[in-house]
This record gives sequence, structure tokens and C-alpha cells, in this order.
Amino acid sequence: MSDTMLAVIGGSGLYEIEGLEGAVWQEVSTPWGAPSDAILTGVLDGLPMAFLPRHGRGHVHSPTDVPYRANIDALKQLGATHVLSVSACGSFREEMKPGDFVICDQFIDRTVDRKKSFFSSGCVAHVSMAHPACRALGRAAADAARTAGVTVHDGGCYLAMEGPQFSSLAESRMYREHWGADVIGMTNMPEAKLAREAELHYATVAMVTDYDSWHPDHGEVDVTEIVRVLTGNSARAREMIAGMPSRLDHRCDQACDRALEYAIITAPDRRDP
Ligand code: ADE
Repeated sequence: MSDTMLAVIGGSGLYEIEGLEGAVWQEVSTPWGAPSDAILTGVLDGLPMAFLPRHGRGHVHSPTDVPYRANIDALKQLGATHVLSVSACGSFREEMKPGDFVICDQFIDRTVDRKKSFFSSGCVAHVSMAHPACRALGRAAADAARTAGVTVHDGGCYLAMEGPQFSSLAESRMYREHWGADVIGMTNMPEAKLAREAELHYATVAMVTDYDSWHPDHGEVDVTEIVRVLTGNSARAREMIAGMPSRLDHRCDQACDRALEYAIITAPDRRDP
């Protein structure tokens, strides 16, 4: 039996995965409230898997209202060791085209209305986010996506915005020209921070659906276009997931599974039990 479990958090357009042996939707409760939805668990080619639709089936949670802490806690409770985020994004780079996948290795967090930590008064921890993504997991996803026939960009900076409105033209230009962001989305923060605090390996597959609003040859972003591109991509996203290796690395350069080793600053005798 594998000592790893891959959790996939599916974003817009990915609300289910098929082909899991022993598939069952499990309700999980957490101290942080209910997760976005029940979680589908099962085994795919020997790899235990969990699947959580980030916005809930039927897309009922806005990016601000996704219960990020409950989601990560619930996946950890089910035994997940690795979390692959699959989500739609806008692109700031000509060469990152709609339909391409970007394996993001950096993030800029511009979200302002979300709970971002499992730690607060009672037990304070400061984990490193210098290298927020697990490169080993990202590489495995990149290989699987290439095998599925996708154009993959290995590395990219993801700007997480609050939403739910899209960016203004001025913001779009600023993120692209001055901040060095490559793609933009609304959900991978604080998810990546919470995954790190939970000592989970976390990688982001950002599926490009549009050029946000900066591109002179493309109009404004609109949801119809995003859904159109996602629908065209969902089979390849599923193929990527099905093509993930049945054994995942436990050890990685980012030491994701030991993130708390030097992070807790509260004195042991002052910590909440
Ligand atoms: N998701 C897909 N496209 C997006 C965009 N342009 N901005 C924010 N989130 C997105």
C-alpha cells in the first residue's frame, strides 16, 4: 500500500474525477467548519486519492468564501500527503496561451478578506514561504500534463487577487509590467500558505483561460470565454490527474513535510494544548 495520498483541489470547471476504484464521497467535519463539499476518495492505479471541488459542486462558494482552512484540514484528516491545485487563471505573458498549463513556483498574495493561518494566539508559528510550491510534485504534474498533450510552462509567478471582480486595466498592467506576475487567479492563496502550515506538499497547475485585461488584441475577461476554454481543457486536466505517478516523493527540496520543525515560536509551556 502506498504511503502517500494525492489530494486534488479542483477549481472552476473541475468538479469531479472519474475512474477511482472504491470511490466514495465522504463528509468530513473540522474545527474550522465544513469544507467546500464532501470529498471523493478512492484509488487510481495504486495511488490513494482524494478529490475536493474547491467551489463545491454547482459552484456555490465565491473565492472569498471558500473555506480554505476547513478544506486543508479535511484533506489532512483523510491522510493526504500531497495536494495538487488545479485552477483557472488569466495570463500576463503572450507565450502563456489559453489552453496552456503553468506550474507555478512563486506567489504574490493580494487577498485581503480571508483567514490565512491555522495559528493564532495560543500557539504562534511562522513557516517559511520563500519557496511556496513543492517542485517535486510540480514536476510530476508537468510530466503528466505533457503526456496528456498539454503545452506546459514549468515555473511562473501566480498573483492571487481577492475578486470576485476581475482586475482593472491599470491593475493588470501593474501586475504584469512592474510586479513580475505571470498569471492571475483568485484562489491559490491562502491555500498554499495553509498547506505549508499543514506540512503538505502543494503544487499549483494553473490552466490559462484568458489574457486578463492587458492584452491589446484581446478584449476584457468574461466568464463565458473562461468556461469555454475550461470545457475544452477538462479532458486533458483529467488525463493529467490520471497520469500522475503511483508513488510520490516524500522528501523534496522545500522540505514541505517538515515545515513546522523550526516555525513555532510560542514557548512550550505557554502553548494551547
Ligand atoms: N481566473 C481565470 N481568469 C482569471 C483572471 N483573468 N483573473 C482572475 N482570475 C481568473
